[in-house]
This record gives sequence, structure tokens and C-alpha cells, in this order.
Amino acid sequence: MPSLAELVRSHTDLDTGDVAWLHLLMADWQIIADLSFADLVLWLPDSQGIGFWAGAQMRPTTGPTAYVDDIVGTFVPVGRRPLLDAAYSQGRLVRDGDPEWRDDVPVRVETIPVRRGDRVIAVIARNTNLLGVRTPSRLELSYLQTAADLTQMIAAGHFPDPGPRSDHADSPRVGDGFLRIDAEGRVVYASPNALSVYRRLGLNGDLAGLSLADLTRELVPPRRRPDEETLSTVLGGRAPRDTEVGSEDVALILRSIPLRPAGEHIGSLVLVRDVTDLRRRDRELVTKDATIREIHHRVKNNLQTVAALLRLQARRMDSEPAKSALEEAVRRVGSIAIVHETLSQAVEETVDFDEIADRLGAMVTEVSAHSDQVRVRREGSFGVLPSETATALAMVLTEVLQNAVEHGYGGDAERAGDIAVGVRRIVGRLRVTIDDDGVGLPSGFTLDASTNLGLSIVRTLVESELDGQLELGPAPSGGTRVVVDLPIE
Ligand SMILES: Nc1ncnc2c1ncn2[C@@H]1O[C@H](COP(=O)(O)OP(=O)(O)O)[C@@H](O)[C@H]1O
Ligand SMILES: [Mg+2]
Repeated sequence: MPSLAELVRSHTDLDTGDVAWLHLLMADWQIIADLSFADLVLWLPDSQGIGFWAGAQMRPTTGPTAYVDDIVGTFVPVGRRPLLDAAYSQGRLVRDGDPEWRDDVPVRVETIPVRRGDRVIAVIARNTNLLGVRTPSRLELSYLQTAADLTQMIAAGHFPDPGPRSDHADSPRVGDGFLRIDAEGRVVYASPNALSVYRRLGLNGDLAGLSLADLTRELVPPRRRPDEETLSTVLGGRAPRDTEVGSEDVALILRSIPLRPAGEHIGSLVLVRDVTDLRRRDRELVTKDATIREIHHRVKNNLQTVAALLRLQARRMDSEPAKSALEEAVRRVGSIAIVHETLSQAVEETVDFDEIADRLGAMVTEVSAHSDQVRVRREGSFGVLPSETATALAMVLTEVLQNAVEHGYGGDAERAGDIAVGVRRIVGRLRVTIDDDGVGLPSGFTLDASTNLGLSIVRTLVESELDGQLELGPAPSGGTRVVVDLPIE
């Protein structure tokens, strides 16, 4: 199905201002379809003057459709639908007495010229499936009257309103609650749904005859309603705006569309929607985020406690190997704690890993005997990583950096060292290169033959957890190079 923009471009002379106007109109024409119980079709005049193109259509949610099939993109030549021709050339609403029959369905057609400034830029055909029409109730009469006012405004170029609009996804529909107020802001008619909404807000009795702004001021405490100017403008029906109000337990969105079919302001259409459930869900999501952050915070605290216990135990060890094994465990636990600490500050389940990498580098050099001489510098950015990747990568980085500090410069406490962490993020992959300028790997060393715990952990994490590859070899600078390459989203 072609888009409105495509149809305009290939078949019409409409300019970008016209198209913007039509888009504004279409943003609100669901309201007119619902109030009319009718299908709306936007017909665009062909640039050669030979007919009209169906640019868009809208079905009513309040009644049966007159068009089972989509008709956007179809063409009607001049002369085939006289009502279209008349509305376009004469710039007035045209209505036919007799219904058209389409596939055994009687359809009443009216045409509405869409005026922008002093030009008619399109025609809306309003098609009412008469099978759905009964003796009208008060609700139906109010809907139809309001629809008639709005269509007159379209023909006069007073609707849509060109001003800015708040782009609420929660914008109320006709079926959510409909009120018609007069020029003084008093309720002339309220649909049953609108009445229920106000009853939930605390109204006893009926809405008819009450000033909507006064009533809302009475029912809603000051800190739950908008500023006085917004309240009286929207609820007084004097500007096309919307606003949200609420009591302790009920939240609603109100939207007003002032009506001036003959130019003079005669009142307003106010739509109201109960958004209590939506707002509750919003609040629950916020609390859920806060809970997740709190859990990360506690995990971090617990890990720090575990590290402290291990450190205590290490101090009581007599044997050197046992002591250093426990100290390594302290470091490993510490690096996981850093990830959780970062997560506890974030809203998302992702972390900016640069900060973590830098802290790990500082942690590893700090506790070593070379803290003054060895430094870790990062080249490139890790960017944002999911938390599971971050945890595993933090442990990998800790082990590798620790090895560089410990084995690369190990024998000589005076020796200066430069460890470079190079990061490259290419489409779908992350490649981390850790180069030290130390003594290099022992001769004959291979990754496969190495059975020590540190590199075993690194290998398992890289290959199983991160689904990546690990390489270990000589660095161009003479020291050791470790490369970790992994897929990321
Ligand atoms: N950056 C490095 N420079 C020199 N040797 C290294 C380096 N990284 C690892 N090695 C060698 O690999 C061995 C295995 O490392 P690892 O598995 O972490 O165990 P550990 O650090 O406990 O010795 C080390 O003992 C060391 O000989
Ligand atoms: Mg090690």
C-alpha cells in the first residue's frame, strides 16, 4: 500500500505545508470517525485535474465499517463521484439524500472540503454504513452534533489547529469518555464513560450543568492538578490542549478541542481517559529498577565481606603458597564486586565498561610491589556491555593484568613497566589486546600445556562464558601479548 507521501509526490501538486496540514488532520481524525460512526477517506486532487486519489482512510471504532477492503491508492476519475467533485470545486460540505448501495450495504456519503488558508487541498468523504444506524440516543445525537461542528471547522480551515500539540501516546479517545461543554465551560452532555470517570474521582450525582473547571478544582487536591492557567484553559475548553489530573487513587488525562463551526467559539469537546492503571504500571517499573539496583548493591557488599574474610584468613597462614592463593582469591572476588558496584549505579542491566577496566587496572597495580613503576593505560573504548559479559570480562582482565604485573616485572621491584590495554569494537565483535613490556613468557610456554589456575579461569571464561577466543604470545615490544576476541550484540 503506497504511503500518503508517495501518493502526494507522484500524483498531486500539494506542497510540504499542505502535507503537514493533512498529517495534523490525520493525527485527530479518528475522533471524527468515531463521533460520526463513519469511515473517512482522504481524497487527494490529481495534478492533471483528472480525478482523485485515496490517500488515507480511517474506520470508526464506534460502529460498523462501510469499507471492508482497504482503498488507499485507488483512483476515481472526475464525474464518477459527483459529491467529491462538488466539495472540491465549490469548497462546501455536500451531502446526498439517497444512500449508495455497496455490496448490499446502504452507505450514506458526505464530502468535506479540507481548507488550508484560501485553498481547498483535499476532500474527506464520510461514509456511514446505515445498517448500524438506529433511532439515535442522546449520546449519538451529541456525537453527531460534535462531528458536524468539527467537519464545518475543517471546511472553514479552522481544524486542525496548527499550534504545537503534546504528543501523548495515551491521548484519550471518544470511547474513553466524551464531554460537550458550552462557551462558559458548563457540561452540556457527558457520556456514561465520562460520568464514571468523574464518579471515580469522587463526584456524587450528575455532571450536566456543572462547570468542569470548578468541579475538577473541587475534586482534585491542588498538588495533583496542573497550574491554574492550564486547568482553566483546558477544562474551560478555550484552547486545544491536554493535561493530566489526579486524586490520590485516580489519574486522568483530559483533552479539549474548542469548537467554532461558524467562526465564533460555541464550546468545546472534552475527551477524558482514566489512566490510573497505566500510571500504576509506570510506578511499578520504577520501583522494579530501584529494587534491581539495591540488589546489586547488596551483592557488592556481600562480596566485599567475603573478600575481607579471605584476607583475614590469608594473614593467619604460615605457608607462603597458601597465603598467596588466598590473596588471589581476594582479588578475584574484588573484581566481581567492582562490576556489581557499577551495576548498582545504573538504571539498565548494562554497564559502561571503560570505568570498570580502569578501576581494575588501578586495583591490580596498587596491591603489587611495583605500584609506583608499573602503569596500565587503556587505548580505545569498551563502550557499553551487558552485565553478564561485563562480569566475565572483568575477571579475565584481572587475571591477565595480574600476570603482567606479577610475572612480567616480577623479579625486579625497581623495574618500570607499561601495560597497554588496546580495545577495538568492530561490528559485532570486541577485540582486547593486553601488551606488557616485561620479560616475556618462559621459553617453551604454551597455553595448552599451562595448568595453573589463573589462565585456566581465563580460558574457561573466554571460551565457554563469552564464546570468544584467547591467544597468548610474545608482544612486539618484547613482553607478552594476550588477545581476547569475543562476539557482542
Ligand atoms: N604477562 C606474562 N609475562 C610473563 N609470563 C606470564 C605472563 N602471563 C602468564 N605468564 C606465565 O604463565 C603462567 C601461568 O599463569 P597463571 O595461569 O595465571 O598462573 P599463576 O599466575 O598462578 O602462575 C605464569 O606462571 C607465567 O609463567
Ligand atoms: Mg596468574
